[in-house]
Amino acid sequence: MTEDRAKTAALYDAINTWGDSDDFHLDLVRSADAVLDVGCGTGVLLHAARASGHTGRLVGLDPDPHALAVARRHEGVEWVEGVLGTAGYEAEFDLVVMTGHVFQVFLTDDDVRAQFTAVRRALRPGGRYAFETRNPGARAWERWTPEHGVDITGENGERVRVEHRVEDVRDGLVRFSETHSSPDWAEDVVERATLRFTTAEQVDALLAETGFEVVERHGSWDRAPLTATSREIITVARPARGVPDHGGAVAVAFGTRVGVRDSKNPRGDALGFPTSSWPASGRALPR
Ligand SMILES: C[S@@+](CC[C@H](N)C(=O)[O-])C[C@H]1O[C@@H](n2cnc3c(N)ncnc32)[C@H](O)[C@@H]1O
Repeated sequence: MTEDRAKTAALYDAINTWGDSDDFHLDLVRSADAVLDVGCGTGVLLHAARASGHTGRLVGLDPDPHALAVARRHEGVEWVEGVLGTAGYEAEFDLVVMTGHVFQVFLTDDDVRAQFTAVRRALRPGGRYAFETRNPGARAWERWTPEHGVDITGENGERVRVEHRVEDVRDGLVRFSETHSSPDWAEDVVERATLRFTTAEQVDALLAETGFEVVERHGSWDRAPLTATSREIITVARPARGVPDHGGAVAVAFGTRVGVRDSKNPRGDALGFPTSSWPASGRALPR
């Protein structure tokens, strides 16, 4: 299994080539001094920022050691294994980004609240938080079928086909598999993941609860307005004026899961931060 993850992590950049979402996020990164990329994966965004002349602090955080092993081929960025709640950042960043639909790994409202609260703690005053989630109105999972599979060539010249199959759609959660097959391999590699689809209204309610206000909202990477069937719900948020820093919450570490001790959860029971595995296609899932 470990060997399989290393194999699919090494294919990630061949499957997920640079795209319009990267241009969008790179613009934001270049306009900020200290940047944290949560769920940085193989680190392409921060590497591009450094290569294009960014001189500030760049930190890439991800719980997947195989993705980070690929990221660490590039110097000039702090690559950190872990999740935000346990990393303990306090008022250190002008920008937190979460690209490649990382947001969808948080499967419950409590997971999202814990994540947003930790982002707020990590931001300096006046900081920004940018992330996207797939719009449920565009029903992208209906195109996660073998006919929409892609053929790629890995860095060692291996020819690989990547196909998706949805196994369950229920209560906003989509469970699916991703199969990698290659004539050069003895066996297929199959990975499974569950992603959550939330509406803009749900996102905004959770942001407001955790002390954020939305400053930009787009439905696609060219900054078109969000419509009922836009593919993306792209959000740039900032800590709301007049809400005390960190909303009074305290992050409490429980191994790799984290509880946020506040009035709703006085004991700081573990709420979220699932370190779910992620299929190698990530951003490149059919849109
Ligand atoms: C689709 S990849 C996106 C990688 C990169 N941001 C990109 O745009 O290519 C999703 C990443 O989220 C990471 N991830 C999973 N659970 C996470 C969590 N709780 N906190 C932060 N990252 C997480 C995975 O390890 C994976 O690298």
